[in-house]
Amino acid sequence: MSDHKPTADAFRKIRIDALISYGAEYQLELYLRLSDEKFIKVSQKEDNFESILEKYKNRGVTEVYLTLADYDYFTTSVRKAITARLSIAVAEPTKPPEISLLAGAHDVLKSLILRENTEEDTLAVAQALTQGTVKTIHMTNLLGKFSEFKKKCSREFTYALLTSQVACLMVDQFNWANDAVKEKVALAAMLCDVELLPEDFDLLKDSGLAKENLTKKITFHPLNTAHLLAKESKFFSQETLTIVEQHHEMPSGGGFPKGISYQRISQLTAIYIVAHYFVDQMFDKTYREALHADRCRTVVELIKNQFVSGVFRKASEALASVFDQGKMA
Ligand SMILES: [Fe+2]
Repeated sequence: MSDHKPTADAFRKIRIDALISYGAEYQLELYLRLSDEKFIKVSQKEDNFESILEKYKNRGVTEVYLTLADYDYFTTSVRKAITARLSIAVAEPTKPPEISLLAGAHDVLKSLILRENTEEDTLAVAQALTQGTVKTIHMTNLLGKFSEFKKKCSREFTYALLTSQVACLMVDQFNWANDAVKEKVALAAMLCDVELLPEDFDLLKDSGLAKENLTKKITFHPLNTAHLLAKESKFFSQETLTIVEQHHEMPSGGGFPKGISYQRISQLTAIYIVAHYFVDQMFDKTYREALHADRCRTVVELIKNQFVSGVFRKASEALASVFDQGKMA
């Protein structure tokens, strides 16, 4: 081991699960972060990479650091392997893809999109991840397993999965439901918060969604991300782009960034907003698995009383139907 004191800009964080799922063939130097500016190298290129990753995972380490060069190299060169692995998992008829494969793919995809990399190989990862996600939520009830998933995935991906599941269950209540619509929703869920860091999610949660408490970055992340994705309008559908752009709007115009009201929001976007709000209210720090059903009932009631106009009424009624059918247990 050797100490390094370069600036934090020289390293990029990556989830150890992403390296375990997709990095076995690589020889990368791993670093741990000791403080804001201090990183320590914990592997050499000639070390057995897999066993080192397992060792740190077993010690409870969830994130490691790569040099900027290794990070760029890994996240771009691994894309084809991710797409291939996920495509095989999606084609498997009897079981959904391993959550770690999806979570690792999301981590890599997020880092690419953040660097505005929307090359063909990147979009192929997005496509495979979306199909894997839709298959997973179709075959698994993630809502009752929040605690388990939280351990396996980043916070952002956990919430993206849960929001996708709730939104897809709601979509099923409408006669226009189909897999293509669900993929549009899932893709929006995977990407709508790529710009946010864990501390931004904390601030968002603590803000009570009051606009004056938000940073500029948080306020404009829906618009900025939608603009970025809109450059690939052949790949990203208008429905996906609209969900990304409007995912923090609220019925009465009290949301952000534009503060538009329900008359200008589509039914699919309203479904997403309600699903997102449900997950946010349901799965916070005070969530306890033993009280899942009671809490679910309370949040569904709250939403029914709060989302009462136009497309939002239809969305909150769809949520209540899903709950009444016992699909959120
Ligand atoms: Fe967001």
